[in-house]
Amino acid sequence: MFYHALKSLAVALAFGAASVSAQQSSTSLVSRRLTEYLMPVATETHEFARVPDTNFVLLTQMSNSQLIKIELDATTEEPIAFQAFPMGKDNSSMLHGVWPSTVHPGKMWLSLQADNKLILVDPGYDLSTKPTIIQTIDIPVLGNGPHCVFEIGNRVWAGLKVASEQTGKYYVFSADISNSTNHHLYPCLNSPVFIKEEPTTGLIYVTQDTDSSIMRINATSGATKQMHIPPSVGNNAVGMITGSGALSGVWFTLAGNATGGTGTFGHIGANGKFQFFKLKHPLLGTNAGLLHIADASTDAGGPALWLLSTSLLSTNSPDALIRVTFDAGIKSVAGEEYISMLTQNAMVHRVLPLDKTVLVSELHTFTLAQLTYNNTIAGHWLPAEAVTNNTVYTQAG
Ligand SMILES: *[C@@H]1O[C@H](CO)[C@@H](O)[C@H](O)[C@H]1NC(C)=O
Ligand SMILES: *[C@@H]1O[C@H](CO)[C@@H](O)[C@H](O)[C@H]1NC(C)=O
Ligand SMILES: *[C@@H]1O[C@H](CO)[C@@H](O)[C@H](O)[C@H]1NC(C)=O
Ligand SMILES: *[C@@H]1O[C@H](CO)[C@@H](O)[C@H](O)[C@H]1NC(C)=O
Ligand SMILES: *[C@@H]1O[C@H](CO)[C@@H](O)[C@H](O)[C@H]1NC(C)=O
Ligand SMILES: *[C@@H]1O[C@H](CO)[C@@H](O)[C@H](O)[C@H]1NC(C)=O
Repeated sequence: MFYHALKSLAVALAFGAASVSAQQSSTSLVSRRLTEYLMPVATETHEFARVPDTNFVLLTQMSNSQLIKIELDATTEEPIAFQAFPMGKDNSSMLHGVWPSTVHPGKMWLSLQADNKLILVDPGYDLSTKPTIIQTIDIPVLGNGPHCVFEIGNRVWAGLKVASEQTGKYYVFSADISNSTNHHLYPCLNSPVFIKEEPTTGLIYVTQDTDSSIMRINATSGATKQMHIPPSVGNNAVGMITGSGALSGVWFTLAGNATGGTGTFGHIGANGKFQFFKLKHPLLGTNAGLLHIADASTDAGGPALWLLSTSLLSTNSPDALIRVTFDAGIKSVAGEEYISMLTQNAMVHRVLPLDKTVLVSELHTFTLAQLTYNNTIAGHWLPAEAVTNNTVYTQAG
């Protein structure tokens, strides 16, 4: 009886395999590769940026104020070596932001949150060369604790993360790079993170995480305006980029709160109005806590964005890298592709597309994850191999 059952199962399997191959209905497996690279042990692996036109990536580790210079393989973009350099007064200087300068090509802006300074460094020609400081900008009185640092036109900008010792308020800082006594402090909400320019109007937009609002600055007139995120769509505005072409405007993400995220990101174009987009996948998308964002557009695949969902604020949100595409008018999300990170609860922090791979930093596990893919048509992953092997395996036992 038992033998008979086994035998019919084997027959059924053989038939199954045969009929599958006859109908050619098998589906090739989708292939993507994630690799993790261990950085020095630190509790806060933070911001990172590529030094333009080089094979170096600079990564900040805030908990011990170390700058990690990482060398990438010139062909594969795989991290192959690193060297750590202490930055700031001591190991509690809280090295935080890092951003490439275009006014000074090859040089990089860094923020020292606890030293209350921005510095422009020459990262050095090779891996072992110590970065040298070219310019130091002290954050003026009232300002406290520079977080992310950016360069827009001839000015350097930083969101000041810590409440002012004098006023208890928060500020956005901006200074002329060639004359930093020409500086401004714009009062804002708690607390400014990303600062980006809307390309059509030249207006500056600032995400403020805890108070869940976006501040608009007219840098010519100095006028500012708060745009509160409607709680019905989500909260905690963090990541922001300037989009160009079909994605023209600024794009930002909502990271959610301790109960999770809402899988929502938004756009502000030349008309200055919010437009929100929501992920639909029930397991990985609708509760995504979207912390960061990057352009994923390609000539072949059209406009697209990378979104990074993190467990930083809530373990109800997955650590995942998400690629979204849009309908023709950029009115709604057309395609969603999910890549779960290898280590869940890693509190993924930032996403950085390189030329053909994508890097993700993991705040909590001092790791850089690298996504390698081979998409001849953007977003259409090549299968590992076609399903051409019709071998019928012999039955066990
Ligand atoms: C910082 O430096 C002090 C003194 O050298 C040392 O005791 C401490 O362990 C260091 N802390 C970190 C986080 O590296
Ligand atoms: C630098 O900026 C300050 C403050 O705006 C201004 O008074 C000064 O004239 C500027 N210096 C130069 C050389 O432009
Ligand atoms: C910014 O302010 C200037 C000076 O008041 C004004 O001319 C300009 O139109 C404003 N820009 C925008 C986009 O509103
Ligand atoms: C968390 O965010 C959700 C979605 O915006 C909101 O409904 C909820 O009230 C928030 N919870 C807290 C504790 O603020
Ligand atoms: C992508 O796949 C094609 C076809 O298998 C191959 O020729 C090409 O070398 C691959 N490119 C990369 C970057 O792996
Ligand atoms: C099919 O797979 C079997 C088992 O792995 C292997 O022995 C065989 O060489 C494969 N055939 C082809 C044509 O790849």
